[in-house]
Amino acid sequence: MHALLPTAIALLQAGEVVAFPTETVYGLGADASNPSAVSKIFELKGRPKNHPLIVHLADAELLQEWARDIPNSAWILAEEFWPGPLTLILKRSSRAIDAVTGGFDTVGLRVPAHPVALALLHGFGGGVAAPSANRFGAVSPTTAQHVRDEFGDALAAILDGGACEVGVESTIIDLSSGTPALLRPGGVTREELEETLRISIPLNQSGKVRSPGQLASHYAPKAEVILVSRAEAAEHELRLNREGKKVALLTEHAHDANSQAFARSLYAALREADARGVDVLLATLPNEHGLGLAIADRLKKAAAPRPS
Ligand code: TXA
Ligand code: MG
Repeated sequence: MHALLPTAIALLQAGEVVAFPTETVYGLGADASNPSAVSKIFELKGRPKNHPLIVHLADAELLQEWARDIPNSAWILAEEFWPGPLTLILKRSSRAIDAVTGGFDTVGLRVPAHPVALALLHGFGGGVAAPSANRFGAVSPTTAQHVRDEFGDALAAILDGGACEVGVESTIIDLSSGTPALLRPGGVTREELEETLRISIPLNQSGKVRSPGQLASHYAPKAEVILVSRAEAAEHELRLNREGKKVALLTEHAHDANSQAFARSLYAALREADARGVDVLLATLPNEHGLGLAIADRLKKAAAPRPS
C-alpha cells in the first residue's frame, strides 16, 4: 500500500485537494459531492468555473448513481475499457452537482486504471472530481515531480505512483445524446471504440466547443511549437539557429516510431524543453490513427496561436 494513502483519504474526507496518479496523467482530486472542496480545484488551477470536471469512480456499477438514462452503449464501453483511459459523458443524476458539471446537464465519468488511484477511490468511497494536475492551459503532468514543480507546497498531499503508463489524457466520448461523438481523442483509440460499438464515431467538428480541452490553445509549453514535415525540419533548424534561437526536435522517429512510447514521453519532453530553455520546438505530426490521433491533437493544440 502507498504510505500516504490513509492521509490522502482523510484529506479528501476533510474537503481538501490531493494529487494522485492515474494511468493517463496525474489528477488534482477533491470530493465531487462537496462544492467547497471542488471550488479549491478551480482556484489552484486557475480554471474558469464553467469548465466541467471528470468524476472518477472506483467501479462501473457506480455509473447509475451519477448518471441517468444510461444508454446500452455506455455499459458496453464500461465493460470493455474500464478501468482505463476512457471518459463517458452522460446525462447527469442529481448527485452530480453544478460545481462539477459546470452547470451542464451532463457529467463526465471514468474509472481509472492505476492501482494507487483505485486504492484511493475504494478507500474514499465517493466520487473524486479531478482535472489534470496542471495550471489552466499548461502541459499535463505525467510524474509526481511535474506536480511538485507546478504546485509545490500548495498541495496537502501528492501521491507518487511513478510515471504514467499512457501519458496522454483519457478519450472522451459523448453518449448524452442520440449520436455518440468523440470530444477528445486519448488513451483508448477511436478504432477500438468503433469496433466495440460497431458504429463509426465522428470527431466533434461542429465548431461548437463542447469541452474546454477543445480550445485551440491548450497543452502548451513555454517554448514556441512549430509543426513541420520531417523533410523540412533540418532547414527550419538551420534558419532558427542562425536567428540565435535554441531549437529542439520532437518527432516520432526519436521515439522508435512507436505511438505508445511517443505518447508516454510527450508531455515530459515538452516540459524538458522548457527546463532547458528551448525557444522553439519543431514537431512532426504522427499519422492520425491509433494513439497517433491523440498525439497529433495535443501537438496541434500546443502549436496553436496563444492568447497574449
Ligand atoms: O485522463 C484524464 O481524463 C485526466 C485524468 C486525471 O483522469 N483528467 C483530465 O481532466 O484530463 P481535465 O479536466 O484536464 O480534462 C477533462 C475534460 C475537459 O476538457 C472538460 O471540459 C471535459 O473533460 N468534460 C468534463 N465533463 C464534461 C461534460 N459534462 N461535458 C463535456 N466535457 C466535459
Ligand atoms: Mg487538463
